[in-house]
Amino acid sequence: MKTALLIGSGGREHAQAWKLSRSPQVKRLIIVPGNDGMSAEWERWAMPLGSRADFAAIARRAREEKVDLAVIGPDNPLADGIVDVFEEHGITTFGPSAAAAQIEASKAFAKSVMAAAGVPTAHYFEARSSLEAKKILEDLDWKSGWVLKADGLALGKGVHVCATLAEAQSALGALEAQGHCGHLVIEERLSGEEISWMAFCDGTRCALLEPARDYKRAYDGDQGPNTGGMGALSPVPGVSPEWAARVRNEVFLPTLREMARRGAPFRGVLYAGLMVDLQRGILNVLEFNARFGDPETQVLLSRMDADFYEWCEASARGDLSRLPSEVPFAREAAVVVVAAARGYPEAPQKGAPIEGPLFENANSSEPSYFLAGVARLGQDFIVSGGRVLGAMGRSPTLEGARTQAYARIEKIHAPGLHYRKDIASGRPS
Ligand code: AMP
Ligand code: GLY
Repeated sequence: MKTALLIGSGGREHAQAWKLSRSPQVKRLIIVPGNDGMSAEWERWAMPLGSRADFAAIARRAREEKVDLAVIGPDNPLADGIVDVFEEHGITTFGPSAAAAQIEASKAFAKSVMAAAGVPTAHYFEARSSLEAKKILEDLDWKSGWVLKADGLALGKGVHVCATLAEAQSALGALEAQGHCGHLVIEERLSGEEISWMAFCDGTRCALLEPARDYKRAYDGDQGPNTGGMGALSPVPGVSPEWAARVRNEVFLPTLREMARRGAPFRGVLYAGLMVDLQRGILNVLEFNARFGDPETQVLLSRMDADFYEWCEASARGDLSRLPSEVPFAREAAVVVVAAARGYPEAPQKGAPIEGPLFENANSSEPSYFLAGVARLGQDFIVSGGRVLGAMGRSPTLEGARTQAYARIEKIHAPGLHYRKDIASGRPS
């Protein structure tokens, strides 16, 4: 029987913790730091995650407690080398090294990997200063628009999709004000529908999960600012099995080969953010992430019909060869609708009391909610982060899953709490 340690505190990590806890192998689950909406049956360590010294402190304690496998949820610790530090301490860890996590942490790195690997992606330029960016923008053909991307991790705030030169100039001003202009990628604007496609990777092999879709804009009809994600569904309607073969052969396998060639083999879950035209058969990669998506993980793990611990361990050990080439999934649809705090995403306000059955079905095979920005205050629960929770629906049909998710979110009340009303009912742009 195994002890698993999970790093992170959001809805993604609640879903991962729930799935790990359902593994027949896992007898003890520790979460660092977790959140107050997580089951009291799981241990939590209140330890900081800000530096490599913090990672080393967690690793030493994990050694003492005989942790068998560590699973890393969020992007920042990956980019800061948590996997390298844990492995130096002899802890088997699911997630990429800092070198491999560059595929998410640097847009320019990701573009150069894609170019070298022949992965289909938008045409792009790199700029090393706002002056250089200004010159590039002025010389572009603005027929289909361009996208400005800050090179580093920017919590979803570093990307501006611009239709005109004037829009791009003002986006450049905004990026400058945030101090993001040192290194920019300026990329052709693509159209189509977005798909989040993830795969367990062991350095050379990959096993695809089923596709998911997230809803990034804050408001209905894909209006308003970009967010971490306001809802998700899986599977994605209209995606035939041939797409899985294409995504494996045109995206994941060449990327894994190029990463290995650069001495940064990718182990963990690789997330390809795709733009596709399903009718015309066009496939492009918008971005890579070096971890599970949030909220996509909530729908994906809810449908995954396999032992999550086993898959994470096999990827971490660099040997997926004994597992199927595609991850088994239940033939059901899942939908999550995210409820966000007043002011999210610009300036989320904390402290509002939450009412509703937050722990309904929590220890069952189908939890009603995955909790994220939730803290306990005495006997009450209050909002403690931007994305507060995800309400889940699972059903043989997408329509049924959506109806269930909305029935559940309507039971949750907190002043200023808001959510989109159109998750899973149309195509997001
Ligand atoms: P990224 O962080 O690179 O995925 O960008 C965030 C969001 O910006 C994506 O999910 C898309 O909605 C949008 N986006 C990024 N790149 C492009 C592009 N080349 N064309 C159109 N939209 C894009
Ligand atoms: N939902 C998008 C992401 O996790 O990056």
